[in-house]
Amino acid sequence: GVDSELDDLRSIARDSKSILLQIEARERQRTGIGSLKIRYNNIFGYYIEVSRSNLPKVPGDYIRKQTLVNAERFITPDLKELEEKIVGAEQKSVAIEVRLYEELLEAVSRFTLNVLATGRAVGEVDAIGSLAAIAVRNRYVRATLSDEVEIVIEDGRHPVIEAIAAERFIPNNSEIVRDRNGIQVITGPNMGGKSTYLRQVALIVLLNQVGSFVPAAKARLGIFDRIFTRVGASDQLARGESTFMVEMHETANILNNSTGRSLIILDEVGRGTATFDGLSLAWAIIEYLHDHPDRGGITLFATHYHEVTDLAKTKSRVANYNVAVKEWNDQIIFLRKVVPGAADKSYGIQVAKLAGIPAVIIDRAREILGTLERKERDLVEETRRGGPVSRQLSLFDSRERDTIDALRAIQPEALTPIQALNELQRLKEKLEQ
Ligand SMILES: Nc1ncnc2c1ncn2[C@@H]1O[C@H](COP(=O)(O)OP(=O)(O)O)[C@@H](O)[C@H]1O
Ligand SMILES: [Mg+2]
Repeated sequence: GVDSELDDLRSIARDSKSILLQIEARERQRTGIGSLKIRYNNIFGYYIEVSRSNLPKVPGDYIRKQTLVNAERFITPDLKELEEKIVGAEQKSVAIEVRLYEELLEAVSRFTLNVLATGRAVGEVDAIGSLAAIAVRNRYVRATLSDEVEIVIEDGRHPVIEAIAAERFIPNNSEIVRDRNGIQVITGPNMGGKSTYLRQVALIVLLNQVGSFVPAAKARLGIFDRIFTRVGASDQLARGESTFMVEMHETANILNNSTGRSLIILDEVGRGTATFDGLSLAWAIIEYLHDHPDRGGITLFATHYHEVTDLAKTKSRVANYNVAVKEWNDQIIFLRKVVPGAADKSYGIQVAKLAGIPAVIIDRAREILGTLERKERDLVEETRRGGPVSRQLSLFDSRERDTIDALRAIQPEALTPIQALNELQRLKEKLEQ
């Protein structure tokens, strides 16, 4: 209906057969030749064939093309015109479609700004409408905004897990104030709910800052300049060295770019490498964030290295939390509640026992664990007292090291014999103090 030429072309291409049949019927009627046929060959296209006996009835406007033994073949101006149309119809249609499409684009492009503005407006209404619908359906609340760097949430929920999880979602409280307890170390067994809690806090902050209500009973939230996250894509993945490299790369980016107003989510950082490497990195990262308040706004650090919970004893802004579990009838029940304090154990051996690992192995594992824990307690204690731990240096204590340094500094050629004797006496006394 847009372009009558195109309409004609299309109907010809589509209906060429029936048009030919129409012409055939018309010519039969006009000439009274019942056996008249329209045929096609590659040499002269469409033609009308009339048998010898009917030749006297052929009208004057037929043009003879070929004579056979029993028949003659004719064309008509009508037929040739149709043939041209059929042959060219496809190509012509495409050409006209292209031209029409370009004209349409041309016409629309005069209204580009209006189209874009309308799209944007519709998109905005759609986004805000969706947030509003979700807020009503899932009982979100409007957070109070705060000038402090703080996250105070009552009965917060993870907006996605609560919608899809089979078990009932357990809400959690958060009370994190940068200058009081801005670095939270969260421990607890695998499957306890650490990652969920971390993401929940980050998502609530994010939703708040895009202007949405948040999944909680009540919330008071500071405004953050950025949310940094280092979380595993999949906890199950066996990690190669290159994956650890990615982990460290992301962590480096956080440590180099965060500010005192950033929210930092670190989920099991250090997990991708050997235990002591990972533990040391986790420890040093938390220390750094604590000692540089202009870097570590609010930090949530989930870890299975229980040792780092010792940091809370010496670092005022570090607070320990754990996901609660309950042992009951030889089972572990995940309570999904984040509570103050460090997790007391990892339950790994207990889970192994429940899974049917033979008792002798379980007993032996407990023994080994005991030894390892004693050793580690010593190490951690040393680290906590500050300074790098080095076994070699402890061959000498600090008094002996000072004396050796003093001895090195002596220049005998510049001393009189008396001075040399006095120096020797002084060094000896210093050692014996
Ligand atoms: N608060 C919660 N309420 C209900 N289910 C939860 C809650 N937190 C976690 N879960 C469930 O427990 C599973 C394990 O949680 P996850 O956060 O991955 O544990 P972790 O990081 O400590 O290993 C999740 O897949 C989720 O379905
Ligand atoms: Mg996890």
